[in-house]
Amino acid sequence: MIEHHLFVCNHQKSGVGDDVAKALKAELKLQGLKTFVSRGQKAHNRVQTCNCLDLCKNCKKGAGAAVVIYPEGVFYGNVRPKDAVRLVHEHLGLGRPLTDLLLSIKK
Ligand code: FES
Repeated sequence: MIEHHLFVCNHQKSGVGDDVAKALKAELKLQGLKTFVSRGQKAHNRVQTCNCLDLCKNCKKGAGAAVVIYPEGVFYGNVRPKDAVRLVHEHLGLGRPLTDLLLSIKK
């Protein structure tokens, strides 16, 4: 069972998206949230890079990457590798989105 699926845009020239994905994967392992038991079933949180999420116009024009987390469909912008610790702990562990990184999607 997949508990959460995180997609990280790695379309930036700086390569920050790959660094964010690596940091998120490392944090999942460190915090014991990569594979665990939820409601009596084996569960996984998965992180993968993806091509552009087409969210730059909504990003804060910062140096980070855009990330979307399903099944909630929560979008984050300007996520940097240092944010992985609290994103994994707060959002995936406690179910509390990081309000300072949330994107409001304007279509
Ligand atoms: S470069 Fe893909 S969302 Fe910004």
